[in-house]
Amino acid sequence: MPEITEQLEKWAGEFGKEYTDRNALSLEEMDALYERNYGQTRTELNERFLEGVDRSIRILEVGSNVGNQFLCLQKMGFGNLYGIELQSYAVELSKARTRHINIIEGSAFDIPYKDGYFDLVFTSGVLIHISPSDIALAMREIYRCTREYIWGFEYYADKYTEITYRGHRNLLWKADFARLYLDQFGDLELVKEERLQYLDNDNIDTMFLLRKRT
Ligand SMILES: C[S@@+](CC[C@H](N)C(=O)[O-])C[C@H]1O[C@@H](n2cnc3c(N)ncnc32)[C@H](O)[C@@H]1O
Repeated sequence: MPEITEQLEKWAGEFGKEYTDRNALSLEEMDALYERNYGQTRTELNERFLEGVDRSIRILEVGSNVGNQFLCLQKMGFGNLYGIELQSYAVELSKARTRHINIIEGSAFDIPYKDGYFDLVFTSGVLIHISPSDIALAMREIYRCTREYIWGFEYYADKYTEITYRGHRNLLWKADFARLYLDQFGDLELVKEERLQYLDNDNIDTMFLLRKRT
């Protein structure tokens, strides 16, 4: 099991803090960014994926950074929200920016909640920053903590592909993350997936919703 990985060190240090300072967006700013990237807002995307999901369910975001996704989920009516984030600076900032959300410092590799404690566990731009050698462990923890749904929004590629990120190696990958979950856990089924083509480049992102078969 990874104790301190190269990626965890980067996110916990100056590199992570600089990202955090750039990433604090209001809901309007985040929606405008998605509109520019994909021609639709994050709120619209979320509404399509979570339309049938009860607003009272208990949700965990893994890698919640400054809490941008919580602002959107709260506006949509979800009130039972938790976050886990490895970077202490981002944890403090997210606590100051949000209300009524239980945010703790911790790692995707060792989520301190019991099996099935959440109805839905999600990541948004986080699996892409976990090394392919560690991804199975992070997915196993996410799978363990959810009773029903896994939701994700990540960079997409057919095959695991490393991307140089702001001059850094070993920090960013794209992959078919929904497929990786499905291959690892036989009782998961795909409820929905959409591949989102950027309007101004060839990159593709994916949003997917998986569910444990009962
Ligand atoms: C690109 S940001 C995404 C932030 C947020 N999910 C959003 O949509 O705005 C990635 C975040 O995941 C955190 N992170 C990366 N690896 C992690 C891990 N193994 N466990 C917990 N958090 C992690 C980083 O510190 C960073 O805050």
